[in-house]
Amino acid sequence: MNQPALEGLRLNVPAYVKHAKLVSWVAEMAALTEAAEVYWCDGSPAEYDRLCERLVQAGTLRRLNPAKRANSYLACSDPSDVARVEDRTFICCEKKDDAGPTNNWVAPAEMRALLQTGERALFKGCMRGRTLYVVPFSMGPLGSHISHIGVELTDSAYVAVSMRIMTRMGRPALEVLSEAGEFVPCVHTVGAPLEPGQKDVSWPCNQTKYIVHYPETREIWSYGSGYGGNALLGKKCFALRIASTMGRDDGWLAEHMLILGVTSPAGKNYHVAAAFPSACGKTNFAMLVPPQSFEGWKVTTIGDDIAWIKPGKDGRLHAINPEAGYFGVAPGTNTLTNPNCMASLGRDVIFTNVALTDDGDVWWEGMTAEPPAHLIDWQGKDWTPQIAKETGAKASHPNARFTVAATNNPVLDPDWDSTTGVPIDAFIFGGRRSTTVPLVTEARSWAEGVYMAATMGSETTAAAAGAQGVVRRDPFAMLPFMGYHMGDHFAHWLAMGAKLADSGAELPRIYCVNWFRKGADGKFVWPGYGDNMRVLKWMLERVDGHAGGEDNLFGISPRYEDITWTGLDFSRAQYQSVMSFDHGAWTTELKLHGELFDMLGERLPRELLSIKHRLEHKLAN
Ligand code: GTP
Ligand code: SPV
Ligand code: MN
Repeated sequence: MNQPALEGLRLNVPAYVKHAKLVSWVAEMAALTEAAEVYWCDGSPAEYDRLCERLVQAGTLRRLNPAKRANSYLACSDPSDVARVEDRTFICCEKKDDAGPTNNWVAPAEMRALLQTGERALFKGCMRGRTLYVVPFSMGPLGSHISHIGVELTDSAYVAVSMRIMTRMGRPALEVLSEAGEFVPCVHTVGAPLEPGQKDVSWPCNQTKYIVHYPETREIWSYGSGYGGNALLGKKCFALRIASTMGRDDGWLAEHMLILGVTSPAGKNYHVAAAFPSACGKTNFAMLVPPQSFEGWKVTTIGDDIAWIKPGKDGRLHAINPEAGYFGVAPGTNTLTNPNCMASLGRDVIFTNVALTDDGDVWWEGMTAEPPAHLIDWQGKDWTPQIAKETGAKASHPNARFTVAATNNPVLDPDWDSTTGVPIDAFIFGGRRSTTVPLVTEARSWAEGVYMAATMGSETTAAAAGAQGVVRRDPFAMLPFMGYHMGDHFAHWLAMGAKLADSGAELPRIYCVNWFRKGADGKFVWPGYGDNMRVLKWMLERVDGHAGGEDNLFGISPRYEDITWTGLDFSRAQYQSVMSFDHGAWTTELKLHGELFDMLGERLPRELLSIKHRLEHKLAN
């Protein structure tokens, strides 16, 4: 701390901070970034209010009408900074082959030169004129053996307040860390230093972006973006990319999965974890309201985006939600499709890139059947239904999001904060496919389930910058979030299954779903949302061993009569159109599986290749 560069900069270390290594790292980073000031977040409500007020003064946040949305804010980002940037995301391990062909790779030394050590390193002086916020956080319940601590250094107060909602942030996390605990260091800058007298903009960011992970040393460095997964480093960067590597090394799983609880009318409890790619229905499924005709069934939320899953003492897989809040997709959310979500959004919310109503509330596409007559759109322009008709302008950005604490959720599971997690009965994998993939299929074995997950395809969405609606392979819904070689991930799943089976435990069943098949009219055939309960019920009946089904190409699917239809008018013909297998489409589909497998090369487990050969053989007959 007596480095010359730090002369004049006070580190402002609170008396309760006892971790010498943390303090010296903060000192080093403050020197590198030349931050004007250092502030340690304690996570208190007063601090949250203070930082939000500062963001209001800076024009980043706008306070919403308290009569409509108590203690809530709207942030509108720079139009260039609206989603994750997958082509700017890097896995920097020593050997390129360890990152695998699905990741962008740069050698650690080269990346460090670019970011930290080189003459024109991006992080040198990147926080000039700004406050460096020290944001300690726990991913997972405080004190859980499945949880891990991180510390994010950021020059964005928006990130600091968002991290308070999304994680267990502040002093309690530091207490877990104590004097010498391990933490994942996460350095984040918007990459917009301020020269003396320079006026700030409401959403500082940089056209140049780097989202960088060093899995071997477990570090995260993020440059140039203030948005979502690029900037809230506990989420995708830590809880998926770094944690997947930790899980591979230590025998557990970090997955892009929601976790939900189901209670049957008989009072039996089940837990299900489901992996759907970004903007493909996790939040909605996690908060599902069963149809009225399903009296006595209840779904509760443990998590809506990420699961950390470890074998428990009982030999079963137990899952925790490492997060404490939801950073959820706003467009399409309404009181009919997701009433629990709408109820969660009544107060204490930060909305980003939605539209502002004339009475100081928010609106987004799909919130109401009739749009308001006038809005200020997410880019600050006047918006009317007429303008939208003429120009196609959206009032809210398609990847507009809400940030809200899990505790706002009226159906939060009583075990959501349990330090031991919940035992998993079934895994579901599902992509967004307008054709080809049937509504639901049960894998006949763990290995065939791993095959389904590994070969999953999905149409791209607005959650990532780039083209939308393009089918790509998204293995395990983890394509953008894997911290190591995808082939090794498949092998890790197969090995976990074998180990659990050896211990005599009942393995979770594995299912593949597709809520998104479209008809000739271009509309979704399956009603989705709450009606997904019909599919979930069949799965749980299968788990209990008393539901029928029939063999199809790659597993077992329910016959029409195996699904509970009460309260829904869904004909056999409609059912046929969401369940059907098209021979030509599947021939193409298996070719696409083959392309992925070829790309993964030597690290693809042979077992998956033989499953593919079996499927090809079946298809040919
Ligand atoms: P990330 O937060 O990006 O990981 O997304 P997510 O998987 O949590 O997706 P989310 O539940 O937010 O849903 C994304 C979009 O899909 C929203 O516009 C939803 O309204 C829509 N959606 C969710 N479930 C269904 C469904 O069952 N059927 C149809 N047709 N649309 C759905
Ligand atoms: C996703 O893209 O899967 C998200 C949003 O959950 S973000 O936090 O931006 O990654
Ligand atoms: Mn996600």
